[in-house]
Amino acid sequence: MQKSWKAACVLLITALAGFAFAACQPQETEPPAAQPEQDRALVAYFSLWDNAGQPGYADAQTSASVVVHNGQSVGTTGYIARLIGEMTDGELYPIRTEQTYPADRQSVEIYNRQSSARPALAGEPLDVETYDVVYLGYPIWNDQIPGAVYSFLERYDLSGKTIVPFCTYEEGTTDSTYAAIAAAEPEAEVIQSGFFILPEEMPEARAYLSVWLEGLYTLEAQPLGSGQVQG
Ligand SMILES: Cc1cc2nc3c(=O)[nH]c(=O)nc-3n(C[C@H](O)[C@H](O)[C@H](O)COP(=O)(O)O)c2cc1C
Repeated sequence: MQKSWKAACVLLITALAGFAFAACQPQETEPPAAQPEQDRALVAYFSLWDNAGQPGYADAQTSASVVVHNGQSVGTTGYIARLIGEMTDGELYPIRTEQTYPADRQSVEIYNRQSSARPALAGEPLDVETYDVVYLGYPIWNDQIPGAVYSFLERYDLSGKTIVPFCTYEEGTTDSTYAAIAAAEPEAEVIQSGFFILPEEMPEARAYLSVWLEGLYTLEAQPLGSGQVQG
């Protein structure tokens, strides 16, 4: 009887110890939510600075504004493109035309209108399939995207991709550019809160961009700085 009582006690203690041990084991945690796959970004941009024949001269004559970035002179749109590339790990792609642009603004305007204008593009063909997001940069020309950007949109099928417009301008309206991009790429999603900035705001560009990009990725309301205008 004493033995069986002891045995019962041992059993009970073993069971309690086992229960306590089990209770002290770390609970199996929920597997972490899958990290969203990092979008692969292309930063394609057109800037007159890259496409005018005589850069130093073109600056004064054509209103292509210039910024010095990492010791290199670049157009304003090229500068914003570089910052976006750095901030998003995106790959830069300057849109270049076969023919160089004239050196004065009036001639550029005429040239842009004349060819109605789909200038032939220079450079290696781009494999757009590699990218999920295309940041598309351009200066406003006569309230529209330059013809070379139309050439780019007509050359490459961006269906299924997200297009994020950004542009430089001096004044006036920028609204119609989203519609033009959407019409050229009907199967792409064109983000309606692009980035717009004036040449004189270049010193603040990085700060404006970081606020804008943060809003873009968290899908929160876009706070508007003086460098950002919603379309
Ligand atoms: C041919 C031409 C037309 C332009 N038309 C406009 C315009 O309609 N509205 C505007 O705000 N700026 C206009 N601009 C100014 C450019 O948008 C501005 O200078 C831009 O920052 C130039 O960028 P980039 O230096 O990268 O080429 C025009 C400039 C050129 C050369």
